[in-house]
Amino acid sequence: MERTFIMLKPDAVQRGLVGEVIARFEKKGLKLVGMKLIQVDRALAEAHYAEHRGKGFFEPTVNYIMSSPVVAMVWQGKNGVALARELMGATNPANANPGSIRGMYGMDISRNIIHGSDSVTSAEREIALYFKPEDLVDYQKVGDEWLSE
Ligand code: TYD
Ligand code: MG
Repeated sequence: MERTFIMLKPDAVQRGLVGEVIARFEKKGLKLVGMKLIQVDRALAEAHYAEHRGKGFFEPTVNYIMSSPVVAMVWQGKNGVALARELMGATNPANANPGSIRGMYGMDISRNIIHGSDSVTSAEREIALYFKPEDLVDYQKVGDEWLSE
């Protein structure tokens, strides 16, 4: 079981897409183990996107995720990191599979709805940025036994 960090970005919150996007993760079979609505400050935004510091899109991207509240979540499941990236679609919604979240709801790379960790190592780093270990809940869910043997 892998855990991945997922963030519904300010455009998702402002456009009223929170419920629809969460429903897609739930229906796929991933399990929600942590969630909160927060206003990201500059220190957290810069830490989140630290790997992109120095690139042209760094500053606009940092400002974008600080521009309105976001929904920070941790989802758990078999192959969860790659699976979430598949559900999200390509970084640029213009190139994303039309059935994916970014492909279905987004128009532009600078407003691409959702963040998801790109590896297990990134997931561990990002989860620790946003959540204390005790904020995450491990639990059995009705239906777990119908998702895999
Ligand atoms: P990146 O980590 O490459 O994409 P992903 O979110 O799919 O892991 O980039 C981080 C965010 O930076 C991306 O979601 C949107 C923004 N961004 C731009 O605005 N322009 C760009 O050219 C790139 C590569 C990213
Ligand atoms: Mg990334």
